[in-house]
Amino acid sequence: MNAHSTRHSVQSHLTASLTAYLEDLQESGVDGIPAELVTSAETYAAPQRTAAPEQGRENMMNEQASTPEKHETLEQIRKNLGPCQRCKLGATRKNLVFGVGNPKARLVFVGEGPGADEDAQGEPFVGDAGKMLNRIIAAMELKREDVYICNVVKCRPPQNRPPESDEVATCSPFLLRQLQSVRPEVIVALGSSAAQALLQTKVPISKLRGKFHDFHGMPLMPTYHPSYLLRTGGNSDSFWSVWDDMIQVLRLLKLPVPDKSRKK
Ligand code: URA
Repeated sequence: MNAHSTRHSVQSHLTASLTAYLEDLQESGVDGIPAELVTSAETYAAPQRTAAPEQGRENMMNEQASTPEKHETLEQIRKNLGPCQRCKLGATRKNLVFGVGNPKARLVFVGEGPGADEDAQGEPFVGDAGKMLNRIIAAMELKREDVYICNVVKCRPPQNRPPESDEVATCSPFLLRQLQSVRPEVIVALGSSAAQALLQTKVPISKLRGKFHDFHGMPLMPTYHPSYLLRTGGNSDSFWSVWDDMIQVLRLLKLPVPDKSRKK
C-alpha cells in the first residue's frame, strides 16, 4: 500500500467512525454539537458565575456556571424519551410526567412518581402533596419556578402503588440524565422511594434523612415525603424534621434561613 492509499484508508475509517458517532448522538436526541465543544482548548475559558453574593436571591437561584460537559438539554432528554413504552407503566398512564421548573435550578426536588392529578395534568406535584411541597418551598422563601421538580418514575403506577424495581431501573437512566443536565447544587429526595432509588439502598428514610449523601458528585438530602406530612399534620415532629433538613439545604446554598418556630 503506498502513502496515498494508506492516508485514504485512514480517512475513510475516520469518516465512518465519525458518522457512526454522530448517528448515535442523533439517536439519543442530540441535534447538534454545542459551540463550546468545538472551540479550541487554547481559547476555551470556563464560564464564570456572574451573580455576585450580594446580588438578589432571584439571580442566585437562576444563574449557575455552566460546565463544558453539561451539553445535554432537558428538551433533548424529553425528545429521546418520546412516547415511552419502555416499562409496563406506559400502558396505563394518561400523561408522561417529565419534570417542571428551572433548567438551571440550584435545587432539585425528586419525588416517587406521579399520582392521579399529575397523570391527568402531565406535571409533577400538582395535587395535595404538591400543595404541601409548595408550602415547604414558600417557607424556604423560594418560588416553585426557581427550583426543578421531577420524580423517580415518569408514569403513574396503578392505584398509586410504589414503583417496582424493574420500573425504577428502566426510568432511572433518564432521571440521572436530567439531574446531570440541571446539575443542581443540592438534590432533595422526597420520601423513601426516591431516597432509596437514588442512593441504591434499603436503609429506611428515618435513618437516611437529616444528612447529606453523595449522588454523582451532587449533595443529596433525603427527607420525608410531603404526603407523609399530610398524614402527620403541619405541626408534627416529622414536619419540623423536614424543616430542619431544609435549613441544612438553605445553609449549603448560602441562602438566608427564615426564622420559623414551632407552635406550642
Ligand atoms: N407524589 C410524588 O412522589 N410525586 C408527584 O409528582 C406527586 C405526588
